[in-house]
Amino acid sequence: MPTLNFKHVIIEIDPEKTLRSQILEAGLSPHNDQSVWLNCRGLGTCGTCAIRILHGDCTEPTSREKWRLNFPPFKNGLSHGFRLACQTRLLTDGMAEKGTGFWGENIK
Ligand code: FES
Repeated sequence: MPTLNFKHVIIEIDPEKTLRSQILEAGLSPHNDQSVWLNCRGLGTCGTCAIRILHGDCTEPTSREKWRLNFPPFKNGLSHGFRLACQTRLLTDGMAEKGTGFWGENIK
């Protein structure tokens, strides 16, 4: 099984499940601050589960993901490496980071 390095924790990944569900199952969160409870629960509309994939192969972005990552606070989010954890499955070993800000939109 592939692994994901997220927040310095190695998580075994099932490529059939979304990253959001597996990050939550591992006791971590792809959400910051109040978005931990104020989010769309994986519908792909709020954008608060955005994480930045540093390496690893993922499924192709869904149309909903493309839509959400192309308006504020994101602009061309896909081209900056952002993916919605609730819409994305990891296919190989990978590493991801969470930015700061309500959506995690601020990256270094
Ligand atoms: S949880 Fe809302 S877009 Fe992923």
